[in-house]
Order: sequence, then C-alpha cells, then structure tokens
Amino acid sequence: MQEIKKYVEENKQRFLDELFELLRFPSVSADPQYKGDVLKTADFVAQKLKEAGADQVEVCQTAGYPIVYGEKIVDEKLPTVLIYGHYDVQPADPLELWETPPFEPTVRDGKIYARGACDDKGQFYMHVKAFELMMKTGTLACNVKFMIEGEEEVGSANLGTFVKENKERLKADVVLISDTSMISMEHPSIETGLRGLAYMEVEVVGPNRDLHSGVYGGAVANPATILCKLIASLHDENNHITIPAFYDKVVELSDEEKKALNAAPFDLEEYKEDLNIKAEWGEKGYSTLERTGTRPTLEVNGIWSGYIGEGAKTVLPSKANAKISMRLVPNQSSEEISEIFAKHFESIAPDYVKVKVTAHHGGEPVVTPTDSVAYRAAEQAILDSFGKKPIPTRGGGSIPIVALFERVLGIKSVLFGFGLDSDALHSPNEKYDIFNYYKGIETLPLFHKYFAELNK
Ligand code: BES
Ligand code: MN
Ligand code: MN
Repeated sequence: MQEIKKYVEENKQRFLDELFELLRFPSVSADPQYKGDVLKTADFVAQKLKEAGADQVEVCQTAGYPIVYGEKIVDEKLPTVLIYGHYDVQPADPLELWETPPFEPTVRDGKIYARGACDDKGQFYMHVKAFELMMKTGTLACNVKFMIEGEEEVGSANLGTFVKENKERLKADVVLISDTSMISMEHPSIETGLRGLAYMEVEVVGPNRDLHSGVYGGAVANPATILCKLIASLHDENNHITIPAFYDKVVELSDEEKKALNAAPFDLEEYKEDLNIKAEWGEKGYSTLERTGTRPTLEVNGIWSGYIGEGAKTVLPSKANAKISMRLVPNQSSEEISEIFAKHFESIAPDYVKVKVTAHHGGEPVVTPTDSVAYRAAEQAILDSFGKKPIPTRGGGSIPIVALFERVLGIKSVLFGFGLDSDALHSPNEKYDIFNYYKGIETLPLFHKYFAELNK
C-alpha cells in the first residue's frame, strides 16, 4: 500500500496531464464528423498501453471503430484479468450549456470538466496507470489483458464479432470494468447489476405533405398530436408500462433482496434537490432505488415534428417522430421486447395515420455475482483503500458487452466503477473528481493482488 501511494504521489502530475491529453480528443462515435479524431484516440490509447509496458499491442480493425488490445502475460499459471473500457464518448451537445469547452479539460473545485472525464476515459485510464505502476514497481500479480473499444456509446455493434473471433486471445478469469458509479466516496459501493436496453424509433405519418393548419386543421389528424397520445398511452395511471406481455419475464426481487437494496444510503430529498424537481415519479409500489436498479422502464429520448424554427409558422405537420428506449431487467430479452413493442405500437395506431417502427441497438441485462473470488478481491481492495466494505448496488445503466462476455467467453465481470451518478455522464459539464481518479489508481493494484492471492 505504501509503495502504491508513493508511486502515485511521485507521478501525480503526469497521470493528470496524460488524462488531459486523452480528453482533448473529441472521440464522438455517434457523429461521422469526428471519425479522424476517434481513430487518433485509438492510436493514442495503443501508444500509452505500450509505454506502460504492455506487449502485443494492436489497434484491431473492425467493421466500425477499432478495438485497442494489449496484454502482459507474466506466467501462464497466474490468473488473468481482462480489462474492458471504451475510448469513445457521447456527443457534447448542447454545447452552449457547457461552462468550459467539452474537449478542453478544465479543473474547477478539484474536478475535471470534460466530455468523457468520467464516462469512460477517466475511468479506463486509471487501469492503464495502475498497470504502469505495477509494472514499474514489479508488483504485477496477475496476467493482464486490455480491450478498449470505440463504439460503446453507439451500441458496440462490432464487438460481438471481435469477441467471437478472438476467444483464445481474450481468455481470462474475470472481466474488470470501471464504467459505473459508486454511491459516494464516503459510501463506496460496487454495482452488481446492469439493465439491458431496447432502442426503438417510431414515425407517425399523416397527410402526404405539411398542410396549412387553418385550411386543413380540425379535419385531418395531426401526427404530432397522435404521436403524443400514443406515447402517453404507453404508461398507465400507476406508471406501469401498458405493452402486453412486457413484464412477463421480469423477476420480482425477494423481500430479502429488496431490503438489502433499500439499505443502501439514499436521500430522496437530496436527490430531488440535486435535480431541482419538486417530486419524484415512477412505477407505483417501488422505491427510487428499485425503480432504477431492478425495474424495466420506457423513456422517450427524443421527439420532433413540425416547425421548430424562430417565430411561428401555422402548419399541420405531415409526420412526427420519436426515439424511445426501454431499460430491461433479468430475464427480459432485448430482441423479444423490441418485437412486442413494435407489434403493440403498430396495433394502437388509429386509421388516420400510418406508423413505422424500427429497432436500433440493444443489449441484455446482467446480474454479476457477489460470491465469486473476483468480487471478494474487489471488496477487499476497497476495504483496504477506503477503510470500508463496499455496498453492493444495482445500476440503472447498460453495458451490453457484459452479458456478451458471459455468453460467448463464459467470463463474469466485476463492475469496479469509481464515478458518481452526479458526474453528469452524457450531460453538459460532465466531470470526474481528481480524487476519484487517484483513488482508483491506488485501489486497482490491490484488486490484482487479492485476485492472485485468493486464486491460489
Ligand atoms: N458507462 C455507461 C453505463 C453506465 C453508467 C452504467 C452509469 C452504470 C452507471 C455507458 O457508457 C453507457 O452510457 N451505456 C449506454 C448504453 C449504450 C448501448 C449506448 C446507456 O446506458 O445508455
Ligand atoms: Mn461508459
Ligand atoms: Mn456512456
């Protein structure tokens, strides 16, 4: 522990400078305008893995953005840790809401503000620096493999193929991922579940052209109004989702599990204050933690129709669109839910409009074990470094690759996240606490140490 702290202390500034360099790349995978930058980011990550001491470093081409691979095999007999992360980031918009430019990392009040600061550059880079530390101090206790992808934020469409084609190379005893949140630094926690995702797009089409809303209004259905009605009908008065068979496979938590989940420190008043809302909302009969961690949900992610420019235009739009996503829990299947959503949405469309439903990406839900050697290693690492045992929680977000690793490689993951829900992931002014960054770099070598010990 002392050695770890000493190395971090001596290299603090460089660790931060390198992260800043990484954060300056606008590696937005969703926007083709940034293609060159995304590719440069992959090269940068590969370079840093090499400098840290990794062998076999390769920028692996896929049908989309490359996956950066690197490894250090100390001894075939030692356990192997596969580290997964993503170097791509969400789009930074709306730009005008950023206090400082999203790709010019800026420190305010001990926090790094930049797109990707927490999700996931700041978090995966802790692993690169922890690896460097273990290499330089001669303390690497496990074999290590890195797999850092560039399409997580757009659904990891090409990762499945890569994993299937590289089963041998990716062989490991655990997948270690820092891409989730903790409750707080005072209440360290480990997420033990992630929700799945089914992402849809719908289009409601009315008349064959935009119409004068005075000449035709009142006599022809307005697609924007109809779309809103259809969307509103997807929740009932108890905020249950109304799609038939939607909940059929959902597993209810046992009373014991519910009790454990709700024992996590959570302050509803603080939560509301942070979001500046007067009241929370959600499915009747469930607490906020249950709603986000264990219940499936349906959200409109975007909706557009008609005239949204300056001033006013009296028009009856010919169509209306929305992007709608559903978060899934065990044992729902992304494909099945996409299908029943499409069927239902088409069935509720009235005769005076046509609807079109298309599916985007998806991902399966997972629950990660808390009785595994890897979980115990993570628990012990946190206990050493925070002085407290971590609380197991359920996360609301999705990392589709976790279920895939399990299915294709048969390897379970540990979600070793050091972010906070309040780090504004995907929002303007995303941030990551410098303290968390260093704390992560200090804690990760302990995981490797305990994972090797517990595997003996
Ligand atoms: N790192 C997040 C997922 C996350 C965040 C999990 C916080 C738990 C806590 C990841 O980068 C992400 O944003 N995933 C997407 C899904 C993906 C298919 C676009 C998500 O959850 O919306
Ligand atoms: Mn992420
Ligand atoms: Mn994300």
